[in-house]
Amino acid sequence: MDRQMIIAASLEELGAARLLLDGIVGFVPTMGYLHEGHISLARRAREECQSVVASIFVNPTQFGPAEDLSKYPRDLKRDLSLLESAGVDLVWTPDNETMYPPGFSTWVEVEGLTKPLEGASRPGHFRGVTTVVTKLFNAVQPQRAYFGQKDAQQAAVIRKMTRDLNFPIEIVVCPTVREADGLAMSSRNSYLSPEERKAATILFRALTAAKSAYERGERDAEELRKIMKETLASEPRAQMQYVSCADYDTLDELETVTGKSLLSMAVFLGKTRLIDNFVLE
Ligand code: PAF
Repeated sequence: MDRQMIIAASLEELGAARLLLDGIVGFVPTMGYLHEGHISLARRAREECQSVVASIFVNPTQFGPAEDLSKYPRDLKRDLSLLESAGVDLVWTPDNETMYPPGFSTWVEVEGLTKPLEGASRPGHFRGVTTVVTKLFNAVQPQRAYFGQKDAQQAAVIRKMTRDLNFPIEIVVCPTVREADGLAMSSRNSYLSPEERKAATILFRALTAAKSAYERGERDAEELRKIMKETLASEPRAQMQYVSCADYDTLDELETVTGKSLLSMAVFLGKTRLIDNFVLE
């Protein structure tokens, strides 16, 4: 018989429901407004673990002052129904008071890896992410946690934090899920106007152009960055924030591509900031 998905709001409800879960527990942390990318994480956790927990919490501390937290899209009812269809056993929907009780003053910060790329463009973002993920890990106590490759730096930072703090958790990074025209799925895509949505494929096209050059034998990282910049410049609606060709683990910018590397970028389409990346194996 199918088990009904449990929805826990408070920390106490989560704790009681967590005790009922058997075996290896897989965890999918989210900020809600779920799309196929999130659901692919839940399905993968379902395949690999005896029990699956998801969380929905729009984490205020990972938004910068200029990023509009109040406009972040939300649809709890739809999210819960999608998670239930994906076979999730338990969903935790904590509130701000639970995650950041009055007087909260304890932060988790990964040094170094959080400085370039997203860290340079969004100061304080990763401190918010690592703090909330630590709190989620502590509450949910999973054996495995699932993150998307689309947020490549977030995945690298969480891998590092997990190692540095000895969390007994395996971090599983799952492939980016894309629309038919190549646009990486993201809750932020809902902000795009129809014209911006069309133009947004430029990220995928720029990454594809650089990857094709790499596959033809190009190993000069500056040349790969140039190809991405030039492709982005061909789309008048796109405003590049950064492009990068970096070492996959350290995120240090490369001169020459030798091992596993990351092509990545952040681009504004109007007011919407999108990121995407390809891994060069
Ligand atoms: O990737 C996200 O949705 C968020 O950064 C996360 C990991 C749920 C932390 O708030």
